[in-house]
Amino acid sequence: MPDREDSAQDTNAAVWKSDIGVNFWKSTASDRERRRAGHRDLMAQLLPFAAGEPFTFVDLGAGTGAAARTILGCYAGAHAILADFSPQMMAQGMVELEPYAGRYTYVEFDLTQAGSWPAQIPDRLDAVVSSLCVHHLRDERKQTLFGEIFAQLAPGGWYLNYDPVLPPDPVAEQAWLRAGDRRDPGAAGKRAHRTPEEQFRYENHVRYMTPLDPQLGYLRAAGFEGVDVYWKELDYVIYGGRRPADAAGDS
Ligand SMILES: C[S@@+](CC[C@H](N)C(=O)[O-])C[C@H]1O[C@@H](n2cnc3c(N)ncnc32)[C@H](O)[C@@H]1O
Repeated sequence: MPDREDSAQDTNAAVWKSDIGVNFWKSTASDRERRRAGHRDLMAQLLPFAAGEPFTFVDLGAGTGAAARTILGCYAGAHAILADFSPQMMAQGMVELEPYAGRYTYVEFDLTQAGSWPAQIPDRLDAVVSSLCVHHLRDERKQTLFGEIFAQLAPGGWYLNYDPVLPPDPVAEQAWLRAGDRRDPGAAGKRAHRTPEEQFRYENHVRYMTPLDPQLGYLRAAGFEGVDVYWKELDYVIYGGRRPADAAGDS
């Protein structure tokens, strides 16, 4: 596997804090969200709340709020705190979250900064989710972030992450590519002939992406229980677990 971390300059902030990057994201949103709607629904369904029960969750790297919107739509009692470091994504998110006015707040949070959760995020959170963002963090930071999420959750609180991962070995990589290319006969050509802008975005996408197993290990090491891969298709997964409930609390 090439050492992607050292192969190119980190362009993550440049991609997400630029009008060009966010306009591209917006222009591809409807097709992407059609494909991902079922995955986002599953993430919401995995949460343990009753329909009208009040609870507060954080969406880390929330962007325009696709994950948070699904959860707000499923649970009338939910309140969302959406955390992101891109003013452009947050501004677009406020437009898209208009139907949920009064049920969400945005906070600026650079997830690369260990141990610096904004004061607007309360502790004893009922749930934390992240979607298509953790892969932008170096592995050491994934590891410390999972510890910080655990500490910020109330006992019994869940963390779920929807993200792409790297294949565990070249055999799996070939199988993933084979299936992907059969589904999208244009994919191999697109890989071979990226424009400079597409290459820029691709390198940002894969730079810190890592295989699944170590990430599950980071969750277990942080203290989560019920750690599982709740859904997986080729390179996309939903994994997570919960902070154990208090000994005297619920099960
Ligand atoms: C691919 S988008 C996903 C947005 C949204 N979660 C979704 O599922 O549609 C990645 C998001 O992660 C955010 N992001 C990337 N690196 C970040 C960091 N270091 N701190 C906070 N947010 C970050 C970007 O600004 C962007 O909104």
